[in-house]
Amino acid sequence: MSKAPMRVAVTGAAGQIGYSLLFRIASGEMLGKDQPVILQLLDLPQAQKAVQGVMMELDDCAFPLLAGMVATDDPNVAFKDADVCLLVGARPRGPGMERADLLQANGAIFTVQGKAIAENAKEDVRVLVVGNPCNTNAYIARAAAIKVGRTNPNNYHGMLRLDHNRALTQLAQKSGRAVSSLKQLVVWGNHSPSMYADYRFVTSNGDSVKDIINDAAWNNDVFLPTVGKRGAAIIDARGLSSAASAANAAIDHVRDWVLGSDEWVTMGIPAPADNGYGIPEGLVFGLPCECKNGSFTLIKGLEIDEYSKGKIAITLKELEDERAAVAGML
Ligand code: NAD
Ligand code: LMR
Repeated sequence: MSKAPMRVAVTGAAGQIGYSLLFRIASGEMLGKDQPVILQLLDLPQAQKAVQGVMMELDDCAFPLLAGMVATDDPNVAFKDADVCLLVGARPRGPGMERADLLQANGAIFTVQGKAIAENAKEDVRVLVVGNPCNTNAYIARAAAIKVGRTNPNNYHGMLRLDHNRALTQLAQKSGRAVSSLKQLVVWGNHSPSMYADYRFVTSNGDSVKDIINDAAWNNDVFLPTVGKRGAAIIDARGLSSAASAANAAIDHVRDWVLGSDEWVTMGIPAPADNGYGIPEGLVFGLPCECKNGSFTLIKGLEIDEYSKGKIAITLKELEDERAAVAGML
């Protein structure tokens, strides 16, 4: 007997990430090749015509797993009974807009959406925020959801997987090892140039990748700047921000969360109270996780050396500043 459909809400459905994301969800790449899905697409009123166009194309793919579609500009409709919410739509930074203005503008969006999710979605809904600044947007949505109750506050995530995937490829290219052989990468902190991609624990077929690379200067001078500034490099090259790779990362994050993963994965999760890494409880922070049986757990007890402590402190400070900037609206 076929499975009951899962409801996947996607915001910013008419945008460029949406265009890379929706077809892959409908083809079963996110939730499994035997899992029917219903897509619930949210975008602004002025984008509804474009959403209709995307839905026409989804129809034209005749995806066997696509069991239905809803298009709306109302968050309460979009999140109704949702099993998974991908919050992609966000206010982009406009000319002359400071980071604080961006935080405020997005704060307003994610307060409304967090509340609407908590009031309408399934109690065990999984939420992944992609729209930037994604860690703090997830923090805001979670705070709004907690006021309502009902949903699981641990299930409001920010997306660090793109940074994780970017770092994996840089390490594979430098070490000459296959990307599929690399295990135990962690990206700590914020999805921003301050993130700390930490390859001290990475192995390839049992060998230490740090030992294979054996080039301390490369870490600081090439690796961390390349990963941290990759988004800007893509905007510079393409004239548009990364979309296909961002969509791919969102699919990876949710697939591992729902279906499990044999590897460590980086997830932007609300830091648990006793995390052991000095991250304040509830701050949405890139942390090492394992995914099994539909849930994720923090990998605890990794040794943090002095260099890593310094790097983690920088990205933590940035997130604490973002939290302070939105505190008034929570
Ligand atoms: P885009 O401008 O092409 O599309 C955004 C869409 O969101 C538009 O259709 C817009 O109408 C819609 N939207 C805006 N406000 C909305 C709201 N309140 N409710 C519903 N929909 C709304 O942008 P994109 O390239 O798809 O990128 C989307 C976001 O993802 C941006 O914030 C971008 O910075 C971010 N991003 C994050 C990562 C990451 O790794 N976390 C990577 C790349 C991009
Ligand atoms: C990325 O990392 O590619 C994006 O977050 C960049 C951006 O500012 O949209």
